[in-house]
Amino acid sequence: MKANIIGTGIMGSAVAQVIARDPRIEFTAVCDKIISRVEPLEQGFGIDGYKDYIEMLDEEKPDIVFIATPDWAHLDPVMACLERGIHVFVEKPLTTNVAEAKIITEKVAETGLKLQVSYNHRWLAPYHLTYKKIQSGAIGRPLMGYARKNNPITVPTQMLASWAKDSSPLWFQSSHDIDLMLWWFDDEPVEVLCSGVKSVLKAKYGWDTWDALQGQVRFKQGGVATFEAAWIYPEGHPSMPDSFMSVVGEHGHLLVDRKDEAVEMSSEDGFSWPRSLLNSQVYDRWIGAFPSSIASFIDAIEDDREPYVTARDGWRVTAVLDALHRAADSGGVVKLPSLAL
Ligand SMILES: NC(=O)c1ccc[n+]([C@@H]2O[C@H](COP(=O)([O-])OP(=O)(O)OC[C@H]3O[C@@H](n4cnc5c(N)ncnc54)[C@H](O)[C@@H]3O)[C@@H](O)[C@H]2O)c1
Repeated sequence: MKANIIGTGIMGSAVAQVIARDPRIEFTAVCDKIISRVEPLEQGFGIDGYKDYIEMLDEEKPDIVFIATPDWAHLDPVMACLERGIHVFVEKPLTTNVAEAKIITEKVAETGLKLQVSYNHRWLAPYHLTYKKIQSGAIGRPLMGYARKNNPITVPTQMLASWAKDSSPLWFQSSHDIDLMLWWFDDEPVEVLCSGVKSVLKAKYGWDTWDALQGQVRFKQGGVATFEAAWIYPEGHPSMPDSFMSVVGEHGHLLVDRKDEAVEMSSEDGFSWPRSLLNSQVYDRWIGAFPSSIASFIDAIEDDREPYVTARDGWRVTAVLDALHRAADSGGVVKLPSLAL
């Protein structure tokens, strides 16, 4: 299958490393509106580079496109691909707007094309094991969930410096946690509460964005899950992110503490827990949840089955995130819209 990439920043470049080694893929082109980001991939992989994705889609006629543009810029490239009969792997969150997520979900249903949202944490073995234990009835029905994902201040101020002020720690950090919790609870979210603080980033950088938010989702069958996200830990904090999730069921609990990622290191540069589980180069291949999720998407096309993370899953996470931010802005409780097609 012929594959292209739209958006060759951090994630798009990581996708390139993975698909270039997949024997089922003929990797032919990449596109970024900043052409200097295309050139290293063009030369490194001997492929074509474009500034305009419409031109790339019409020239290259790919079967699959991987989209890794910023959070708010997913709708147009996704629709351009679906309208041309191209399968789509899109970075999370599906969109930052609920109406846009619904448009995409309807288009996928209408065309029968495959679309997978990059909620790759489902391919991390401890999270997958948690799902299987809950499904097997080991802890009974999930009643209460908690998910924390906090980062050092360098994430908004250095890594995402050009767009963090238009985002929030919940949008950037908690979408995986929300996807996991909706999957584990296997229930429909119906309403949310949320509140947060704007202090440090406002004082230091003049950004009108949240430093930290805590939100709670209530499910149809009565379960509740709390999500916490902050991105103002001090610069020297050893983990990125400090991630912790738990579920309490009717007769048991499960807990995944991922902040140290199993490796501890101290050196003259300081103390750290280096990341290794999501995407690591091991000899000449990239392994971990991220490459596994890409391989699974290619399997879905080959086997003509639904991807394990669908457009509808992406729509649900966006609806929850949107409701949480509306609740934080208004200081109240927000009902979710109907999520039926
Ligand atoms: N799945 C994960 O675990 C994970 C982790 C980090 C980021 N992400 C997501 O991946 C996406 C990209 O994040 P990133 O960190 O790679 O961002 P980035 O800023 O490094 O890269 C985005 C790229 O898209 C390009 N771009 C923007 N609009 C474009 C357009 N219309 N046409 C072509 N190129 C365009 C930009 O020039 C930039 O090079 C975001 O949605 C982000 O939330 C996912």
